[in-house]
Amino acid sequence: MPKHFLRDDDLTPEQQAEVLDLAAALKKDRFAERPLEGPKTVAILFDKPTLRTQVSFTVGVSELGGYPMVVDSRLAQIGVRESVADTARVLGPQVAAIVWRTYGQERIDEMAEYAGVPVVNALTDQFHPCQILADLQTVKEHKGTLSGLTFTYLGDGANNMAHSYLLGGATAGMHVRIGTPSAFQPDKAIFAKAKEIAEQTGGSVQVADDPVGAVAGADAVATDTWVSMGQEGESEQRARPFLPFSLSAKLLGRAKPDAIVLHCLPAYRGKEIAAEVLDGEQSVVWDEAENRLHAQKALLTWLLR
Ligand code: NVA
Repeated sequence: MPKHFLRDDDLTPEQQAEVLDLAAALKKDRFAERPLEGPKTVAILFDKPTLRTQVSFTVGVSELGGYPMVVDSRLAQIGVRESVADTARVLGPQVAAIVWRTYGQERIDEMAEYAGVPVVNALTDQFHPCQILADLQTVKEHKGTLSGLTFTYLGDGANNMAHSYLLGGATAGMHVRIGTPSAFQPDKAIFAKAKEIAEQTGGSVQVADDPVGAVAGADAVATDTWVSMGQEGESEQRARPFLPFSLSAKLLGRAKPDAIVLHCLPAYRGKEIAAEVLDGEQSVVWDEAENRLHAQKALLTWLLR
């Protein structure tokens, strides 16, 4: 059975630490791992917009010795022209791995069930686990550790980033706080799973509708767009409830003085984050964007072992 990375808790705490160590090593020596030598092909598919993910997976697969085949999903129309399962049966025998950005988590679960090769979640409506690996690598670089740190996320508590921070942060033994309006609570089952993981790792998970309390004393503060891909029609009604959660310099002042700021990008300055914060001294967002490359190369290497 191939290993997959469909959600953050597909990696145990030990496995996550192993991938993050490998990511740090690959950042120092970019061509140290060549699991795709041949070249073997990795299929990379996008049903939603992308910049960082397409670039980092394309560069990453090629640096691992492989051939990155970006499939035009407007032509493939997965689930429309043919089922996800049939697509998986076609791709699986020809490629070494499949990387897919799509909508519902059930689509990527189905791909994994039928592909016969590792499948990687490059973002779904529910999770963005590759981004969290890059974020954890970034926090570790700047703070030296993950376990025991307080990590606050402000914004849509029901989106993919919130869910992945809960699971991935708990796996890393962090104290994860989600600051979100009460109408945007995380999925109950995902929160419960994160709580269960945190109990084993010594971390904790918490949801608060008070932005100041959520940020108080944090080691790292992250935010994300209030309008995720696919929610564009809701942008007007989403603006108001999230306003108090906008990461201003004043709000950031409640975190530890040496707190770092993360954002998965694309960022909307003046909405979820003030320009002076995103472009300020505490921001590590460009390291975070670069670490997508190293973290995903480490993940692919680990999955293909
Ligand atoms: N929550 C955002 C993340 C973008 C990388 C979205 O799904 O659009």
